Amino acid sequence: MENTTEKTLGAAEPAELTEPIDSTETAELTETAKSMDMLKLMEQRHSVRRYSDKAIEPEKVQLLQAKIDWINAETGLVFKLFTEEPEAFKANKPSYGSFKGCRNYFALGGRKGDDEKVGYYGELLVLLAQELGLNTCWVALTFEKSVVKKVFEDGVILFDVIALGYGEDGGVPHRSKAPEKLSNVTEDSPEWFKRGVEAAALAPTAINQQKFFLELKDGGVKAKAFIGPCYKTDLGIVKYHFEMGAGREIKWL
Ligand SMILES: Cc1cc2nc3c(=O)[nH]c(=O)nc-3n(C[C@H](O)[C@H](O)[C@H](O)COP(=O)(O)O)c2cc1C
Repeated sequence: MENTTEKTLGAAEPAELTEPIDSTETAELTETAKSMDMLKLMEQRHSVRRYSDKAIEPEKVQLLQAKIDWINAETGLVFKLFTEEPEAFKANKPSYGSFKGCRNYFALGGRKGDDEKVGYYGELLVLLAQELGLNTCWVALTFEKSVVKKVFEDGVILFDVIALGYGEDGGVPHRSKAPEKLSNVTEDSPEWFKRGVEAAALAPTAINQQKFFLELKDGGVKAKAFIGPCYKTDLGIVKYHFEMGAGREIKWL
């Protein structure tokens, strides 16, 4: 997707350069260093469903709100941040992923067909939250939809929410399919593609289904999604992870 500069996480502006950098090798080193930081962040992220009483600090709320304002202005999506609002997670459906103590969340609204875009920009918020020391969990089903839905104007679809806050713990890593099952990666693949696939494998997907396949082809990447719950949103999430892990702009085929 376009506009990669803005979506890197609160990244500092590059320091003033005394010499122009024109060597490919230097550019590749910078690319690798940035993506290694992102991979670390992704390794630390897990879905968290039990939250402590600790409130999110106002500075962090402000940062998250600023990013949401930017997303909404750039993409036409309708994302909202709720803090200290306990109603959406009050009544839990016990069958899948019950939540405890969640009073903060992102509500992800958009128009028909925005599923993938919601995934892409929602995951940007997830990783920004992780960078701020907060925990998250994507939620399509196990929340009170009627509570959240009413804040959106007619025509806006509520796709998902993302639970947010300080977790009782940091969650646990999900079981993952092997990189070869998720992509056509081989030993000889370029490093950026290997890192991208590694990042994609760390992406959250609905019921951990990982129903995607990434194919390196003609210098670009074809991302296929296979039908399953929320599979289009999953694909957006996976593409965001892939781009951040690869550390470069991707030609999506
Ligand atoms: C689009 C989407 C919808 C999800 N919906 C729910 C949900 O309704 N309830 C829930 O408890 N977890 C939900 N999850 C969380 C997944 O179960 C979780 O991401 C997956 O098991 C992988 O675990 P991880 O996030 O810890 O890596 C959802 C995840 C995604 C990406």
